[in-house]
Amino acid sequence: MLEVVNLRYEYPGGHEALRGVNLRVNDGEKIALVGANGSGKSTLLLHIAGAVDVQEGKISFRGREGADVLRKNIGLTFQNADDEILMPTVIEDVAFSLTASGMNVQSSHEKAGKILASLGISHLASRQPHKLSGGEKRIVSFAGVLASNPEVLALDEPTAGLDPKARRRVINFLRESGKAIILATHDLDMAIDVCERAVILHDGEISAEGLLPGLFTDKNILEANNLELPLRYSV
Ligand SMILES: Nc1ncnc2c1ncn2[C@@H]1O[C@H](COP(=O)(O)OP(=O)(O)OP(=O)(O)O)[C@@H](O)[C@H]1O
Ligand SMILES: [Mg+2]
Repeated sequence: MLEVVNLRYEYPGGHEALRGVNLRVNDGEKIALVGANGSGKSTLLLHIAGAVDVQEGKISFRGREGADVLRKNIGLTFQNADDEILMPTVIEDVAFSLTASGMNVQSSHEKAGKILASLGISHLASRQPHKLSGGEKRIVSFAGVLASNPEVLALDEPTAGLDPKARRRVINFLRESGKAIILATHDLDMAIDVCERAVILHDGEISAEGLLPGLFTDKNILEANNLELPLRYSV
């Protein structure tokens, strides 16, 4: 469904952040994207979601290329939740994509309200998004992406800074979702809970990939990529 072929990307200033990445995501497949700081996870997600123009290589969604196609079908939560907050209240912010696509305000707020409830954050509905705590902002931006109902979720550290219960609610939500998910995270335990497969990025290249939990029990592979055993396997 989603195909990344030999993707390369150099940031202005000359840093080569992606060095020939190949990735295929099938319908409904959940893939974890892991790797040390600076390995290229966020850069890859920005490409997949059509937020960055392809310099070299190819990305296609159901055989079609172009940033517009990707933006329409892939919902991205940014690593920095401040990058995506737009509206004066949380409920308006979460409902934004719905009203923008022509739904009336009442229905869009009802739908957004249901999403807030399912994530346990109904109490935030009338708060100002930019005055929320870091974790609250993150879960609100996740709610906003869910509201737009994209075919694929591209999630950049969706549980960073969340309290244990909020983290668990997000994990359960992702497990039960029938959508394809690309989940960039340092939380290998969450990756195992949510994803059937993982790819490890190292210096802009895919250095290993495999099924979960198997791949994350391999100490040698983890060490070679500056990663550690998930908590559940460490003593
Ligand atoms: N705007 C930028 N300009 C120049 N270099 C950048 C820019 N953004 C990222 N980089 C560099 O590109 C590389 C990949 O960064 P990226 O943010 O994709 O890593 P990451 O795997 O998401 O890291 P983290 O785990 O810290 O989120 C890093 O070396 C980073 O310093
Ligand atoms: Mg990142």
